[in-house]
Amino acid sequence: MPKDAEKMEKIVALCKRRGFIFQSSEIYGGINGFWDYGPLGVELKRNIKEAWWQDMVRNPPTGPDGREVQMVGVDCSIIMNPKVWVASGHATGFADPMVDCKTEGCKGRFRADQIAESQCPLKPSKCPGEHDKCQLTEARQFNLMFESHAGAIKDDANKVWLRPETAQGIFANFKNVCDSTRVKIPFGIAQVGKAFRNEINPRNYTFRSREFEQMEIEFFCHDRDAMKWWEWWRDVRINWYKSLGLAGENLKPRNQDDKELAHYSKACTDIEYYFPFADEPQELEGVAHRGCFDLTQHQQHSGKDMTYFDDETKERFLPTVIEPSAGADRSTLAFICEAYTVDPSRPSPELMKFHPRLAPIKAAVFPLVNKDGLPEIAEPLFREIRKRWPAQYDAKQSIGKRYARMDEAGTPYCFTVDGQTKQDGTVTVRDRDTGAQERMDKSRVVDFLNDKLS
Ligand code: GAP
Repeated sequence: MPKDAEKMEKIVALCKRRGFIFQSSEIYGGINGFWDYGPLGVELKRNIKEAWWQDMVRNPPTGPDGREVQMVGVDCSIIMNPKVWVASGHATGFADPMVDCKTEGCKGRFRADQIAESQCPLKPSKCPGEHDKCQLTEARQFNLMFESHAGAIKDDANKVWLRPETAQGIFANFKNVCDSTRVKIPFGIAQVGKAFRNEINPRNYTFRSREFEQMEIEFFCHDRDAMKWWEWWRDVRINWYKSLGLAGENLKPRNQDDKELAHYSKACTDIEYYFPFADEPQELEGVAHRGCFDLTQHQQHSGKDMTYFDDETKERFLPTVIEPSAGADRSTLAFICEAYTVDPSRPSPELMKFHPRLAPIKAAVFPLVNKDGLPEIAEPLFREIRKRWPAQYDAKQSIGKRYARMDEAGTPYCFTVDGQTKQDGTVTVRDRDTGAQERMDKSRVVDFLNDKLS
């Protein structure tokens, strides 16, 4: 059992209790590998995706040569022409080795390369194949793409796949983007969206799901500059996680060795994180040098010219691609695990120390008591705040319980209207992380939040 398994159980319980993450279709017993985000979770995940889009697409850091970095976005369809997946290699190569157990009452299916970490459904203390009753088949390749049919007739001619990654929509639109915008190489195309993989063993909460979201960039450059851009993107991506709170020992970039690298790749760093459910760090994102593999494949299979013409150097070439490919759900889970804090000195010890940019609710407003003219002051203050930021108003229960609820939601600032507010117009502001309180004039609250949240 991983050393922090107990901590993970507490995080999962808090996520359900406070509405971050629910099991999909829970009232029908759930469905393995699918998850829903509740009212707090949806805000958190949106904030992560928006921070990524803002920091990578709209306002990326200055490039390695001190110049502005050109980035644009796309939002492509989930179902594409099946030839895309033949060209990308997914139709034949996107498979895991799988074994079945033929024993009556078991009929389990396991990843052949993860047998040692799997549990026998009949004897959970053993691995599949570890006791006499197991009848495991030879390993077979199992394609991870979900199939469907486009149109009324369910035959092979109408077979389609749900995309297993967002990247191919970007490659297929490379020419469209070049022709419809003024981007010049080097430039990047970004996309955030759903991807689907029929994982044999979905597990570790949302970490390995069958439906998930990716945040992907394909950065097109000249091959002679590719390693410089790869190093730059690797550092930009590591620093992005750090800037939002994944700092310190839990974040572990790891360079893939030659055996792990794809045949067309010169370098790849996996940005990994120590989740409480595993003793080894697990992948959040890969930053890969992909050579010109993808555009070459699409050029061959579509018969369309995918080359780029540089009108300054008069050179025509297939660009090399650097791909920072991140999981939105895995990032969300990492930010949740990092934020989870237990402070035994508090009456309600569990709190979520989200970075203010990511916090689902930015501020809460409380009247100390729900009478004596205090709601009449607190409600307009709340309305003023919610025009700009997600905020909550709470007048129920003791003030201590209200603070504790906001601590669990990760709300950085709580403003309380009390008797003194009626006399001098000041309110208290309480800091989530320290619990410290100070008074400020209520006319300063919006400026205070502006300062702290921007
Ligand atoms: N285009 C490259 C690509 O898709 P990948 O390593 O297969 O690369 C990129 O996926 C990221 O997508 C991973 O680093 C991970 O964060 C996320 N991801 C992949 N499979 C996932 C799954 N089953 N559940 C949740 N996230 C997943």
